[in-house]
Amino acid sequence: MRRILVTGGAGFIGSNFVLYMRKAHPEDRLIVLDRLTYAGNLANLIGLEEGPEYSFIRGDINDLDLVSGIFRKEEPDVVVNFAAESHVDRSILGPGEFVRTNINGAFTLLEAARACFGANPAKRFIHVSTDEVYGSLGPEGAFTEETPYSPNSPYAASKAASDHLVRAYHHTYGLAAITTNCSNNYGPFQFPEKLIPLMIINALKGKELPVYGDGQNVRDWLYVADHCSAIDTVIEKGRAGETYNIGGRSERRNIDIVGLICSLIDERAAADKKLKEAYPFEGSRKGLIRFVKDRPGHDRRYAIDCTKMEKEFGWTQKAAFEEWIKKTVDWYVENRDWWERIISGEYMGYYETQYGGRMSGRAPAKG
Ligand code: NAD
Ligand code: TYD
Repeated sequence: MRRILVTGGAGFIGSNFVLYMRKAHPEDRLIVLDRLTYAGNLANLIGLEEGPEYSFIRGDINDLDLVSGIFRKEEPDVVVNFAAESHVDRSILGPGEFVRTNINGAFTLLEAARACFGANPAKRFIHVSTDEVYGSLGPEGAFTEETPYSPNSPYAASKAASDHLVRAYHHTYGLAAITTNCSNNYGPFQFPEKLIPLMIINALKGKELPVYGDGQNVRDWLYVADHCSAIDTVIEKGRAGETYNIGGRSERRNIDIVGLICSLIDERAAADKKLKEAYPFEGSRKGLIRFVKDRPGHDRRYAIDCTKMEKEFGWTQKAAFEEWIKKTVDWYVENRDWWERIISGEYMGYYETQYGGRMSGRAPAKG
């Protein structure tokens, strides 16, 4: 039995990871530490009960006394750090929280891990990071583990800083630390500020679909369960001090993603009388697309080369993008309670700040 401390385990990827591990390794004890910011939601961890296999602690990774106490009491074998401020647009509105949690919080966790783990090779510190640390690509090529860091947003810069700290703690103190750099995730429980859930929900409700700039920006999409299986693999097989790129080899332009979501929802509504009654809409939802003012410093293209994960460990995603995106649309259609509760609260204030002045954008040309 391993004891695994999961920080940020009530957020999107963290909660998917906890549910994934519960199934894949039922014998492990999972301890979730989460501050429950706007992005943390206990409804994501539904079905888990406090007991020998699972505990939830509400707290901040910046709180060294709390974190050190958890290390002493729980004696974890593995730490997986998901806790972060994760949304680029919010980092542009207010970078302070990103510096506090993503840099200082990671530093605090590393200090607690150094005191407890030392250079013990059996005690692992897995730091979950992003491909955004590498900056923006031109039309060709992909990020490898050797690509120099070149972060462009306050979010990416704060993640890059934490990655450097993790590297230094391995190099200097021998902490058995590993960093994973993953591309854009999608799937259940993603907060509806991110592209895919925002577009699914707006399209269902017949609201305008705000596409930044010319919609030609490219992201490389990975289904969240495939990210979880990659982290599981890295815990078991990863080499301390290494970094691993994780991606879905699924580059898509934003405008194509939004168009696909519109088609999938149109099709579902056409086949489901109840859904059509709940969300009446005539014509194609593609008519809701609006090109709006671009995000400042908007990275053009991301693409991950995940050859190292594939060659060293035989890791690969389970299904193709087209299959997973359909499942994702289904999940949001079938779990309306989950997101209705979120978008009825303070979310509306965020939405107004982010999109209020932007929504006068133009619709795409016909045809
Ligand atoms: P999220 O915003 O959905 O969840 C973050 C979680 O961290 C929330 O539960 C929040 O309450 C918690 N948290 C925030 N500040 C905290 C603090 N100070 N102390 C304790 N808990 C705190 O984020 P996500 O999308 O699940 O991302 C998880 C990690 O994966 C992040 O580190 C992110 O950088 C990285 N990542 C995300 C993506 C993606 O597409 N979402 C891709 C690659 C990497
Ligand atoms: P996002 O989900 O915020 O992830 P990231 O910025 O970390 O890649 O955005 C994905 C892409 O979608 C990005 O190029 C910005 C774009 N985007 C829109 O066009 N409209 C939106 O309303 C949002 C949230 C994102």
